[in-house]
Order: sequence, then structure tokens, then C-alpha cells
Amino acid sequence: MNPALLLYCRPGFEADCQQEFAARYPLDGRWQTGAGYAIFEADDSVELMELHQQLDVAQLIFTRQALLALAKVTLGERDRLTPITNALAELDAHYAAPWKAVWLEHSDSDEGKPLSGFCKRFGGIVEEALQKRKAIDERRGRYRLHLFFTSMSEAWITLAKPALASPWPLGIARVRMPTGAPSRSTLKLAEALMILVPDAESKLKPGMVGVDLGAAPGGWTFQLVSHGLKVFAIDNGPMKGDMAIHPHVKHLRQDGFKYRPQSPVDWLVCDMVEQPARIAQLIADWFVRGHTRHAVFNLKLPMKKRWAEIERCFGLIDGALYSAGIEYQLTAKQLYHDREEITCYLTRIKGR
Ligand SMILES: C[S@@+](CC[C@H](N)C(=O)[O-])C[C@H]1O[C@@H](n2cnc3c(N)ncnc32)[C@H](O)[C@@H]1O
Repeated sequence: MNPALLLYCRPGFEADCQQEFAARYPLDGRWQTGAGYAIFEADDSVELMELHQQLDVAQLIFTRQALLALAKVTLGERDRLTPITNALAELDAHYAAPWKAVWLEHSDSDEGKPLSGFCKRFGGIVEEALQKRKAIDERRGRYRLHLFFTSMSEAWITLAKPALASPWPLGIARVRMPTGAPSRSTLKLAEALMILVPDAESKLKPGMVGVDLGAAPGGWTFQLVSHGLKVFAIDNGPMKGDMAIHPHVKHLRQDGFKYRPQSPVDWLVCDMVEQPARIAQLIADWFVRGHTRHAVFNLKLPMKKRWAEIERCFGLIDGALYSAGIEYQLTAKQLYHDREEITCYLTRIKGR
């Protein structure tokens, strides 16, 4: 087969994953999808391999992991290992062993998840076989080998460029539910800080001030407070648990679209359920007025044309910040904890 790109995504969002990819990289080729993944075979495989060399998964919203697929292997019921080692032995020299590591994976879908136990068990066998052949070398290896199973009898041989690929198995950063958090939404901001905010620990420091728009019952506020921030929590609804009485939390029953801080704050977070364009305009306005330095916000996308809506929202932000002479960085991801929504991180680099 010709080399292809294998993209992991949230099941049900394969079309969004394709649309975003096609908008960013207009290459001719064919798509095939399964629940939780999409495979793109370009007409020009040299172009595709060049793209893989620079494809940074952090820049893609709907793609959790991006891998170069080099072969599809059918596996026997008795001996699954030999077809894999045979296919690996046939890879072009540039992609051949040693690899940094080998990961056995499946899609994050109802069809894929039952393969998790098998991947763990068989993973040990594959790893041992490759170690014996000196095919795994963390230091000398250029790529990480991912064996992607669509069933127990079919696997794709794929490679990740570790510097540009997701560092997490299945492209999913696992976040633990912290004790004392008043809602599971807390996981969304925890994941966003891990994935979207480079060096988050140094950007969220004790003594800083944050505003949480649409804060109740307090899951996002909990994250900010855990980093030592003082938080203005804006919501007409009630804060719960510790977040209702915490000395660093000031709960204001106000409209999140009207509230503005008396002096600039370090962080704005916003999880209000509203039209995405309204949220984008609001966030842009905070930056244009110099109210905040960083923002994490969620865009709810219940509509069909999600990619078009994202482009519209990012266009609104870009227009407003460009006119105000503000240089910024905007990254976004459909996080593991995001359903029909994406989470964005906007930060000012220069200006205002
Ligand atoms: C998804 S919940 C937020 C959950 C919260 N991030 C957490 O982690 O617990 C959305 C919240 O936005 C609030 N909200 C919606 N519109 C608002 C507005 N115009 N002003 C203030 N809060 C608003 C709702 O009352 C609701 O509590």
C-alpha cells in the first residue's frame, strides 16, 4: 500500500477531523474512516511523507494522534506475531528498526475499546520479540512504532514522530478526578492546562488573579484555586462544596457577558453555555480592553457545520485582536472530556 496518515479522533467526529485536515492541508487523495479514526491516502505519497515530517498534532483540533501508516497486516488466529514481524522487516530503511518504543493501540470507540485487554497482553509478547531482535532503542530510534488494531485479526503498522505526536497512548491525556472538586467539569480545565497551555505550572502561580465566567458549581474555579489563584466566580447559580466558602473565591451573581474586572487579571476562564460566536466576541473584547493576559474558554458546537463555526469564531478573534495591534497565540483541542465542544487557549504575546 501507499503510505497513509492515520488520525485518531473522538468517535462520531471523524467528518470534523477530515474537514479540518482538508482545510489545513489541501492534498488530493482518498479517505476511509472507522469509529474513532480516519485514514488519508494521498495521491502523491512523497507529499504525504513530507507532510508527516512536520505535522504537529498540537495544531489540530479534532485529531488526537497523527501517525504515518505504512502497512496493513492480516493476522492469523494462532500466530499473530509472525505476520507483524514479517511486515516490519519489509519497511523501507528510513522507517526500519530500531524504534524508540512500541505501543499497541485501538480506537476509543465501542468497537475499539474491547481490544484494550488484548493489546495489553499481546503488547508484552510483541515487545519481547522486538527487544530480542534489538529493534527497540529509546536513544537511537527515530520513530515510535504504533500497532493500531481494528480487530484481533487486523493491524496497521504505523509510526509516530515523537516530537510532533501526542505523548499519550491513544492520544488521550489521563487526568484523575481530584478529591473535593464540585463537578466533573473540573477534569476539562485540568486537561486543557495539561494539553493546551505550555508550561502551565509557571503561568498559574499563587497570588495571581483569575475570573471564571459561568463558574457554578465550581469545577473550573477549583482548578484555579488549586494553583493558588484568587478567583472571581461569576454565575447566577450556586457554587458548591468548598468553592462556596473558600476564602480565595469571591462569588458574584452577575451576568458573565456584562461583568468586567476593576483591574486587569492574569487569567480568564469561561465555560458558559452560549452561542460560540458570542463567546468568541466576549473573549476578544477582554483582550482588546487589556482585562486579561491568558484565557481558556469552551466553544459549544451542537451544530452540524462545526468546522465552519470554528473558522468563524477564530476569524472574529483574529479580526478584533489584529485591529487592536495585539499579537496572540490561539490553540484549541477537542479534549477527551469535551463532547460536542472544543476548548481553546488564547494568550497575548505582545501589545496592549
Ligand atoms: C457548564 S456550566 C459550568 C460548569 C463549571 N465550569 C464547572 O466546572 O463546574 C455553565 C454555567 O454557565 C452559567 N451561565 C450561563 N450563562 C451565563 C451568563 N450569562 N452569566 C453567568 N453565568 C452564566 C450557568 O449558570 C452554568 O452554571
